[in-house]
Amino acid sequence: MTVLITGGAGFIGSHVIRLFVEKYLDYEIINLDNLTYAGNLENLRDIEARPNYTFIKGDVNDALFIDKLFQRYKFDGVIHLAAESHVDRSIKDPLAFVKTNVIGTINLLNACKNSWNDDFENKRFYHISTDEVYGTLGQTGLFSETTPYDPNSPYSASKASSDHFVRAYGETYNLPYVITNCSNNYGENQFPEKLIPLFINNIIHNKPLPVYGDGNYTRDWLYVQDHAVAIDLVYHKGVNAETYNIGGFNEWKNIDLVKLLCKQMDTKLFRKEGSSEDLITYVKDRPGHDLRYAIDASKIKDKLGWEPSVTFEEGLEKTIEWYLDNKVWLNNVTSGQYQSYYENHYNN
Ligand code: NAD
Ligand code: DAU
Repeated sequence: MTVLITGGAGFIGSHVIRLFVEKYLDYEIINLDNLTYAGNLENLRDIEARPNYTFIKGDVNDALFIDKLFQRYKFDGVIHLAAESHVDRSIKDPLAFVKTNVIGTINLLNACKNSWNDDFENKRFYHISTDEVYGTLGQTGLFSETTPYDPNSPYSASKASSDHFVRAYGETYNLPYVITNCSNNYGENQFPEKLIPLFINNIIHNKPLPVYGDGNYTRDWLYVQDHAVAIDLVYHKGVNAETYNIGGFNEWKNIDLVKLLCKQMDTKLFRKEGSSEDLITYVKDRPGHDLRYAIDASKIKDKLGWEPSVTFEEGLEKTIEWYLDNKVWLNNVTSGQYQSYYENHYNN
């Protein structure tokens, strides 16, 4: 079995790569990643020398390159995670999201279609998507697999579009596919532009914690290694042409989450209780900010037997410990270009 995993140097992708490389010794795992600001080979140092693992630097937007890659390797399956993934960046530069998330996905779909040439036995295209495609919930209700798509940000619009293309290739060309729509991930190796690692880094450096709007926005949080386990399960056991929602059964208002994070950070850093909370600063809201996401993950639980393995408090503690133990990683990714992104985004 030769499996192409795209975006494997990123946050979720690196956890998926590690799980597959360690668990499936007889698979050949190819990691295709363009190493954008979010891609980091340091995430995979511990497994890079394994005989069943190969890294290839390349761009999913380059159709010719992708076709050649599919001629060189006869892939049995693709797990597609490569994407532009940050909502705030999508508001500044929507086209970058259309290119990678839509066109890049279509390039991979075309390569699968051409390379598999109607012989779809034991073949699978697995598209990793997001709960943001469903838009926003009010104070009640949950997203299910049949919730209509209603994306609100350029990021979620690009992910919704790519989901539609995957389904269309299934309907039109019989391409075997599965899609999962997952809630907010947190954990080791997440780039510190997203809420949790950004705030951990700011607390370490005693910098303000920029809470958007009134902080009453709600997200459903899932530990990244539990997401990787779900991806393994869906890749191997998911039913063709189906979608599965993945979530943590774990809703938090941003402000409550930030207060819990502050409390845990004070303990870990031996700081006076309440000192991190003093850093909370309410800032201008994100345009088009979705009020609430919450996932009904009962389908994947009932059909495939998946459930999150850690509580949020445990997962958050592990995450904080990882960042405190990996200050070199954190310093490396927050030097250089990161500084100008941060200044530009938070000071305007
Ligand atoms: P990330 O930004 O950490 O990593 C994305 C990876 O894709 C990086 O390694 C980057 O170098 C690579 N990449 C970007 N553009 C590329 C291109 N043109 N060609 C090749 N590689 C390219 O993202 P993440 O948070 O790990 O998310 C991975 C996937 O999961 C995305 O598709 C995202 O939409 C989805 N997702 C993320 C979350 C979350 O909470 N982070 C939740 C649900 C779904
Ligand atoms: O729901 C799944 C999605 O979760 C994924 O598809 C995306 O790739 C991922 O980035 C994430 O999107 P969010 O926009 O929810 O994540 P983010 O960490 O950017 O923000 C989480 C919440 O915290 C959101 O309500 C905005 C708020 N926030 C975020 C930042 C970066 C702040 O209040 N301040 C901040 O500085």
